[in-house]
Formats: sequence, C-alpha cells, structure tokens
Amino acid sequence: MAKPKSIFICSACGAKYSRWQGICSECGEAATISETLVDNAPNPGAKVAARALNGFAGASGSGICTLSSVDLTSRPRISTGFSEFDRVLGGGIVSGSVTLIGGNPGAGKSTLLLQTVGRLCLSHKILYVTGEESLQQVAIRAARLKIGTDRIRIAAETSIDSICEMASVEQPQVLIVDSIQVMHVNGIESAPGSVPQVREGAAALTQFAKRTGIAVFMVGHVTKDGTLAGPKILEHCVDCSIILEAGTDMRYRTLRCQKNRFGAVNEIGVFAMTDEGLKEVKNPSAIFLSRQETVAPGSLAMVTWEGTRPLLVELQGLVDLSLYSNPRRLSLGTDQNRLSMLLSVLHRHAEFSLGDQDVFVNIVGGVKVEDTSADVPLAMALISSFKDRPIDKGTIAFGEIGLTGEIRPVPYGQERIAEAVKQGFVRIVVPFDNAPRRRLNNVDVIPVRRVTDLFNLI
Ligand code: TYD
Ligand code: MG
Repeated sequence: MAKPKSIFICSACGAKYSRWQGICSECGEAATISETLVDNAPNPGAKVAARALNGFAGASGSGICTLSSVDLTSRPRISTGFSEFDRVLGGGIVSGSVTLIGGNPGAGKSTLLLQTVGRLCLSHKILYVTGEESLQQVAIRAARLKIGTDRIRIAAETSIDSICEMASVEQPQVLIVDSIQVMHVNGIESAPGSVPQVREGAAALTQFAKRTGIAVFMVGHVTKDGTLAGPKILEHCVDCSIILEAGTDMRYRTLRCQKNRFGAVNEIGVFAMTDEGLKEVKNPSAIFLSRQETVAPGSLAMVTWEGTRPLLVELQGLVDLSLYSNPRRLSLGTDQNRLSMLLSVLHRHAEFSLGDQDVFVNIVGGVKVEDTSADVPLAMALISSFKDRPIDKGTIAFGEIGLTGEIRPVPYGQERIAEAVKQGFVRIVVPFDNAPRRRLNNVDVIPVRRVTDLFNLI
C-alpha cells in the first residue's frame, strides 16, 4: 500500500503547503497551518461521490446541450412546510441544492430540521442522518415535538461514504446531515471536524447532490466569533448558507440567509422557541417593538428593510457625560464605524457636539441592522437622549444621512411607510425624496432634507 503523504493546511482559508510555515501566504493568518496525513490518491471527496454514484442515472456528467432545452418542470421547488423557512430559501428547496445551516450550539438547528422533516415527509421521501445524537435521542425529541414519525427514514451514521451509499439506494428527495463536523471521509487520516475532513465531506455531499438531484441540508457549527467552523471553502461549495441566530433573550430565533444561489440574501425568517419546538412568527415587527406605555428619552422605532420585507424595530441611544479622557462609543446591532461617522456629521453640520460624552446604541431584541436607513432614527435617538426629551410613542423614522449633512432617500420608501401605518404609527419622519405625493389620512408624514431639520422634531 502507498505510504500516506503529509501536507500542511491553513485552517482559516484552506490553502495547502508542502511544508510548514508560521504565516499563511494566502490569507496572512498566523499559526493556522497544521500537518495532515492524506492517502496518495487525489481528491477523496470526488471518489466518495463517484463510488456511491455507480449505476446512478446522470452519474457521469450531463454532456453538452442548449440551456433552453433543460427541463425545469420536473424539478419544482419543494416547500419546507414553514413559510418563514421557504422565504429564507428563496421560495422553497431546490432539487440538487446544498444548504448549510449554521448556528451556535443550542440555537435549534436540529429542532428546526426535525420539524421540517416532520412536515416534508408527508409528501416527499426524506432521509435524516444523525451523527451527533443517537436514534433514541432523536425519537424522544420527535415525540416531544409531537411529530408523526412513521414516514421519517433515519440513520445514525458518521461516514460520508456510507451516507452517500445509503442515499443512492434509498433515493430520497431531501437528505439531512447533522452535522458536517462529526462526519469523516475514508482515506483522510485527520480527526472529524478538522479542515480536510470538513472540506472533503462537504465536497463529496455537494457532488452527490448535483449528480443525483437530491437536496442536501448540512448542519455546521459556528466558532466563538460567529463564523462557520471550517475553511471558507465550505461556504463556497454550498448553494445556500443560512445562520440560525438566537436573540438576546433566547426566546426568538432568526434564520438569516448569507448566500443564496436561488434567491435574495439578507432575507430573514423569525421563529419563537416554545416548549413544543419552533413556531413561526408571522408578524415579526410586533415582537421587536416596545410594549411599554411611556417611552424614555433616547428610544425610537425605525423601519428597516430585510431581504424582501420591511421590519419595524426599536432603537435606543444613551448619551452620558464621560468619566474618561477617551469617551466610549459602543453600538450593538449596528455598525460602529457608521456611528462614528454620524457623530462627526452632527458635529460638523449641526454644531451638535458629543465630544465629552459616552455614546451607546442598541437595537432591541438582538436584531442586526445593516440598512443605512438607521441613520436618521439613530441621530434622533441620540439628540433625544442628550436633550433628555422623549420622542412621542407614535413616531417612527427612517433615512440615510450623507457626509455633507443631507438626508438621502432609501429604497422601498412607500412600502416602509405602508408598514409603519399598518402597525399604527401616526408620525413618520422620512427623507424628502421618499415622501408620498398624496396626503395620507390620519398620518403625519414629515419629510426632512438636512440633519438640522431633526432638531426641531424633538
Ligand atoms: P437543538 O436543536 O438541539 O440545537 P442545535 O442542534 O442547534 O445545537 O436545540 C435545542 C435547544 O432548544 C435547547 O436549548 C432546548 C430548546 N428546545 C426548546 O426550548 N423546546 C423544544 O421543544 C426543543 C425540542 C428544544
Ligand atoms: Mg444539534
């Protein structure tokens, strides 16, 4: 038998080297390169898929054809049974696609997939492979979740080779692998969860999915800093990468799409974790808004845009005299650099200086807002906190602030206003260019052009 060869792999980017070095030349990370033994045959992942595919239709590539002649009718999207999950996937599961579901331990990845399987199995053939839990543990959970189990086909397995072989015999429409970090590929010496194992395992499952048309879901764990464990290549090889995040109070879970070859990114789905598993939240705006009767200074509702829909969230700012020579600036849920930029704009164009004050910003409910429309509400919340004057509870705002102090329009202005009206807001601060042409009944729309206009509103 050929002697195993040793190679050196960077755990951050997956770059390969023939000898050890301290700093990766590809990504510049230090101390991320470690030695791995491989058998001499190239690309074990491809071999795994090829072995399992022996005799499977379409196993050896498609040949050349015209794109228009590709039959789309035989592969409609499969609904997961959860409209929030379907939305994040871009309208349902695409046959032959590979989806990675990431999240912290305890986020509810296994629960979500088991519940999905429970709904899917009524109309489709599925195979659930568990590597982390025993069959009994999954059965206990299914019983707790009151899922009908007589149509759920399940296996406890950690070998990618065996999984591909089983799936090519069983021929399910959807294959679930929980999780990729405990799987191993024959012929790779390193431990499960190591870079080569994760990469080759994912590559094998991807090839298998593409050739057979079976949709594959892989669970992946995230590291402390919130990125998916394993090399970046894991995210490159899948079609769709989704993160299941727990909010600060752990009651709600948001499903967020980071990459999607078949739909919009930044789409979110919201679930509540209950004692009977995950339940969809159909009106997420309602849960992220404060239910208190009186509002304190520094608090304001805003309309952000997530994927294909508006979301109303509460934003809080706190401005307080600093005890330090370097006042603190901290933002949770929004971009810290944007906060610094905003403070400079307010200083330069509105003579509003917070140079000796600590400034804290928080988006309530653990929501992350990347939309620039948070600028106007953020500025208003800071002014309100500094002046110690509350903003009326019926007020909501959105809009981007430019470096010259102008207030710029944001996409989907009309849809945002409509959602705010639907949730009962009566005073809406909007960029001048987003203001509707017609007057709205019982709603006061206040168009603003420059940051100085915001001071008159508080
Ligand atoms: P789990 O799906 O095991 O997480 P992951 O696979 O992402 O590691 O999630 C389990 C968590 O969810 C655990 O903290 C308990 C909670 N949970 C409930 O609150 N209700 C339930 O019905 C279930 C099944 C789990
Ligand atoms: Mg799990």
